[in-house]
Amino acid sequence: MRNLSKEPIISVRNVYKTYIGKHRKGFFKTEYREVHALNNITLDVERGEIFTLLGPNGAGKTTLIKILTTLLFPSKGKAVVAGYDVIKEANQVRKVINAMLMGERSTYWKLSGRQNLEFFGALYYIEPRDIEEKIEYLAKELKIDDIIDRPVESYSSGQKYKLAFAKALINDPEILFLDEPTATLDPRSANEMRTLIKKTNRQGTTIFLTTHNMHEADELSDSIAILDLGEIIAIDSPQALKDQFLTEEMIHVDIKVDKPINGVIPKLQSLKEIVNASQKITSGKSEFPIVSLALTSDDAIISSLKILHDSGIRVLGMSTKQPTLEDVFLSLTGRTLSEDTSKREEVVSHVE
Ligand SMILES: Nc1ncnc2c1ncn2[C@@H]1O[C@H](COP(=O)(O)OP(=O)(O)OP(=O)(O)O)[C@@H](O)[C@H]1O
Ligand SMILES: [Mg+2]
Repeated sequence: MRNLSKEPIISVRNVYKTYIGKHRKGFFKTEYREVHALNNITLDVERGEIFTLLGPNGAGKTTLIKILTTLLFPSKGKAVVAGYDVIKEANQVRKVINAMLMGERSTYWKLSGRQNLEFFGALYYIEPRDIEEKIEYLAKELKIDDIIDRPVESYSSGQKYKLAFAKALINDPEILFLDEPTATLDPRSANEMRTLIKKTNRQGTTIFLTTHNMHEADELSDSIAILDLGEIIAIDSPQALKDQFLTEEMIHVDIKVDKPINGVIPKLQSLKEIVNASQKITSGKSEFPIVSLALTSDDAIISSLKILHDSGIRVLGMSTKQPTLEDVFLSLTGRTLSEDTSKREEVVSHVE
């Protein structure tokens, strides 16, 4: 007999998605534009893991999650979710998965939390008695039991997210898909959401999530696929990604200085032991600029401090830093994760 537990719970093979948009140009002219949102995506997700798609705005994260949750057909390629083909066996897929794709907008605000969960439970043909038990359990777990009978419109944003999360657990899904589960939350609610995600995963649910927050990806994931311009450019555990792309001998130093050092950057970069020198100037008036250096030898720290001193710059503090997934993304693409990459249309035909 086949050992199913050893098989990936999600398997994506050579998936492409092209959107074709129609743009009116004046009265008689229509222009067709193609967006190659996904290009040849192949990946496996192991049963029981937290798998993260990390990528900037417009990378194609939502497109892939919609294909895996059967809301969108791929243009080409194959995806199998929990043993079922997302095109040919979409109904079976839907029974064993659930998703939080639109955060707080995925529930009915005029109804109470309980009425929402009863409604969504009924869609899965859960018996009324079982659904009440389930609601009690979820409301307690997510700490929304005191507000569960209030209309959702009176909930805070964090509470609406928790209800959406409860809704996504109503059918005990084998796989839970979460599209940017913390993007619009305040730091405290985002932290609570991450704790809930970890707890749900520990109880046996496989999690597939998307984010453009590298700290979140680092904290939560067993595996990360970095998606950029519709292509997977790296896939591994967070630590392996950091190890793979950043040589171990590299030292990363942050130096806090009393004023911007624009003209001094080329001088720092001319030192042969300095691989990269950049400065971060925050908009807050009370914060000082930070000079970030990546060095191959600690000798270069002293030379750098001398260059700053000779240029009349005062050093206010210094710390070494661990490489982050942002450094990985930067070294792979030359861009930061916060850059928007959603404008990538291609005109395919003009029709008069
Ligand atoms: N229905 C659509 N029609 C045309 N183009 C689309 C459509 N949906 C998405 N796109 C385009 O496809 C690309 C990928 O979009 P997608 O929403 O999957 O990215 P994303 O990684 O989820 O981005 P974000 O972080 O902003 O949510 C973008 O260039 C986007 O403009
Ligand atoms: Mg998206």
